[in-house]
Amino acid sequence: MGYRSHFNFLFLSFLLIISTSIAKKSSASSSSHPHVKTLVFPVTKVHSDFGPDQYVTEIKKKTPKLPIKVSIDISHDIPFLYCERSYLRYTYKPINCSSPLCSFANYPLNPCYSDNTCASYTYNNICDRYASGQLIQDIVTVKSIDGRSVSVPNFIFTCSIETFSFLGLPNGVKGVAGFGVSNISFTYEFAAAFGLKRKFAICLSPFERSNGSIFIGDGPYVLQPGNIDVSKSLTYTPLITNYYYRDFYLLLKAIKINGKLVPSDKWKHMLAFNYDKSGYNGGARIGTVYPYTAMESEILSSVVDEFVKALGKNITRVANVTPFDVCFNSNGIARTHLGPAVPTIELVFNNNAVWKIYGANSMVQVSRDVMCLALVSKKEGFWTKGAIEIGGYQLEDNLVQFDLDNNRVGFSSSLLSKQTSCSNFKYTNHA
Ligand SMILES: *[C@@H]1O[C@H](CO)[C@@H](O)[C@H](O)[C@H]1NC(C)=O
Ligand SMILES: *[C@@H]1O[C@H](CO)[C@@H](O)[C@H](O)[C@H]1NC(C)=O
Ligand SMILES: *[C@@H]1O[C@H](CO)[C@@H](O)[C@H](O)[C@H]1NC(C)=O
Ligand SMILES: *[C@@H]1O[C@H](CO)[C@@H](O)[C@H](O)[C@H]1NC(C)=O
Repeated sequence: MGYRSHFNFLFLSFLLIISTSIAKKSSASSSSHPHVKTLVFPVTKVHSDFGPDQYVTEIKKKTPKLPIKVSIDISHDIPFLYCERSYLRYTYKPINCSSPLCSFANYPLNPCYSDNTCASYTYNNICDRYASGQLIQDIVTVKSIDGRSVSVPNFIFTCSIETFSFLGLPNGVKGVAGFGVSNISFTYEFAAAFGLKRKFAICLSPFERSNGSIFIGDGPYVLQPGNIDVSKSLTYTPLITNYYYRDFYLLLKAIKINGKLVPSDKWKHMLAFNYDKSGYNGGARIGTVYPYTAMESEILSSVVDEFVKALGKNITRVANVTPFDVCFNSNGIARTHLGPAVPTIELVFNNNAVWKIYGANSMVQVSRDVMCLALVSKKEGFWTKGAIEIGGYQLEDNLVQFDLDNNRVGFSSSLLSKQTSCSNFKYTNHA
């Protein structure tokens, strides 16, 4: 007994020393970073053998810091990360099953493990499957806009040891990060930790070899060359969020091609989104899970017809290449700094804000001589409720800011028109 209690005493003192030094360290690290104005996550476009290309970032978790790559699903909520079987470390804290956080994370379920810690279930949209794990708190380290590493000691996430929860993610990617409306998303947790605005901005690079960025917090978001603050070039439109489905909707009212309205008699009604027994239907969602903007086939065929007309007879159509609906011989298509010289597609929102889509975001080169319109027909399925799903390819080299407190989205249209691109962010040394 003497030995055990002695051991326990030593062990407890050890824990106490460690935890006070961690507490000191973490309060020191929060207070020595009083000027964290914006966080920046480097984002890499990653090819997946199992599904569409994804946008991936890297954070560090636990003590000692361990880098972990996570796929981005902007409207999702609870971060879920792979945990090694030997995960337990002294900074790890399970969430109590009776904690309100546990019921919040699992609404409407409230699952508990036998040791009264909180189990957590979340839907992984990228892989189309449920993921489960334990809801825990641990230290997570990310970067401030000036390049400093900053930590959140009690970051809440689902910690999963089940590798099947991550099937479908690219090799080496072991988690999913959501930035959506939920007080346990990246945006909310980091904003709370550093006193930032609950807004984030995505600037995705189309190239696997050069990173884009996601910013949490206010601008300026400065890009090179010439220190351009791209946060100044945002046009805003309302954002409709829906916690239960983890969706971001925009109020799209029309589509134009080279300034001409695409006839919408057959599908205008689909742009209104409604709630019914089967959930939300229709409307225009925006997200990073779909690699190309997907549309109901009626909408897509009207857009394709107008686009082909506007492109003119001189451009030869060639056989379609899956998954696209219309492809062309690219030899007759000139190149400009905005990408291939093709008609401009405009998304017109209910407040008359217009998002312009130029060749760099509307055409995809599928082989040396063939280029296709980078829009696809919507797949059926529970998680593809929108009539239009604005997706990855159309977001690249555009700055898109989601202001969750003010329910609005700001977009820049192509940054190429401002002689910069999403690969041009550099950490500064001065905050
Ligand atoms: C891109 O970001 C990743 C971390 O997410 C980093 O490991 C890599 O070095 C970066 N690549 C470039 C070209 O900066
Ligand atoms: C967690 O739950 C247990 C009951 O199983 C309780 O004794 C304990 O005080 C709780 N801890 C916290 C931090 O709420
Ligand atoms: C998280 O959100 C829920 C629901 O909106 C709320 O009831 C709860 O108080 C929030 N928790 C914290 C810590 O803000
Ligand atoms: C189509 O091609 C012909 C022959 O090359 C050229 O004369 C004409 O101007 C072109 N028309 C358009 C609309 O580009």
